[in-house]
Amino acid sequence: MAENPTSVQDVADGLRAVGYLPGASTALVSFLATQLGKPVLVEGPAGVGKTELAKALSRYLGRELVRLQCYEGLDEAKALYEWNYRKQLLRIQTEAGETGWDRVQDDIFGEDFLLERPLMTAIASSEPVVLLIDEIDKTDQEFEAMLLELLSDFQITIPELGRIEARTHPVVVLTSNNSRELTEALKRRCLYLWLDYPELEQELEIVRMHSPDLPETVARKLVEVVQMVRELDLKKPPSIAESIDWARALLLLGASDIDQATFRQTMSVIVKHRTDLDTVAERVGVKLEPAQVA
Ligand SMILES: Nc1ncnc2c1ncn2[C@@H]1O[C@H](COP(=O)(O)OP(=O)(O)O)[C@@H](O)[C@H]1O
Ligand SMILES: [Mg+2]
Repeated sequence: MAENPTSVQDVADGLRAVGYLPGASTALVSFLATQLGKPVLVEGPAGVGKTELAKALSRYLGRELVRLQCYEGLDEAKALYEWNYRKQLLRIQTEAGETGWDRVQDDIFGEDFLLERPLMTAIASSEPVVLLIDEIDKTDQEFEAMLLELLSDFQITIPELGRIEARTHPVVVLTSNNSRELTEALKRRCLYLWLDYPELEQELEIVRMHSPDLPETVARKLVEVVQMVRELDLKKPPSIAESIDWARALLLLGASDIDQATFRQTMSVIVKHRTDLDTVAERVGVKLEPAQVA
């Protein structure tokens, strides 16, 4: 069922109902995005729920998710459209001799010979979709410029075919891990959402959402420890993703408390650098209760 929210509270409740716990600004910006038709740029450290927000919006809004995963060297042919060379070649071969070049050319540059890539799929779709452009900071500025045109006009120009205008407007979510500054031009066209590590109570609720069977006392301790670990000066502080993994691991192991021994056994689920492990063992491990001796 396609959903059209009428308030910020609608969006907050809707996202929660599909398993995503939004902070206040997340619900607000998401609501505005659905009403103003502007793309949302979501920035923040890895593992704080940027990608998941787009997925959750697609579930909540009842719209298909179209995802473009960005990487270094991504170009229009992989993001927008590409001519299906093989099919074109086949057509040329089968028609060789019988038809003139002009007819073949008209033929092979038609929509039947076009391979749609995610950006084109998103705007050509007859039902509005959620378009996730994930990790935009991995591409270069040229790619960003191409994207700007698409995001402001919702149209694509294909030299051989002409202008293709959007049939429907997608809700667009761009994410960035902040590995480079994005251009001002891009930011100007987007609503901006900064996602950070959550407050303790919020993170506890997220962890419990993902592992409802973990005893509440263990879940609370887990989140307290994770927040303590984030205070340290680490190469890679644990994110929500790590908290969730740790909760699952502790549940599997049947842990009823996080004491020193349990922590030592499982800390590599949340800390993944050799040097960070040493720091954490030294600074956090000692603050926990020694293991109970039966
Ligand atoms: N607010 C939230 N509510 C529920 N789950 C969340 C939330 N934030 C993050 N998560 C979970 O944390 C994990 C990492 O999120 P992800 O979106 O992949 O991070 P990012 O894209 O920021 O690197 C996912 O399993 C996601 O479900
Ligand atoms: Mg992500």
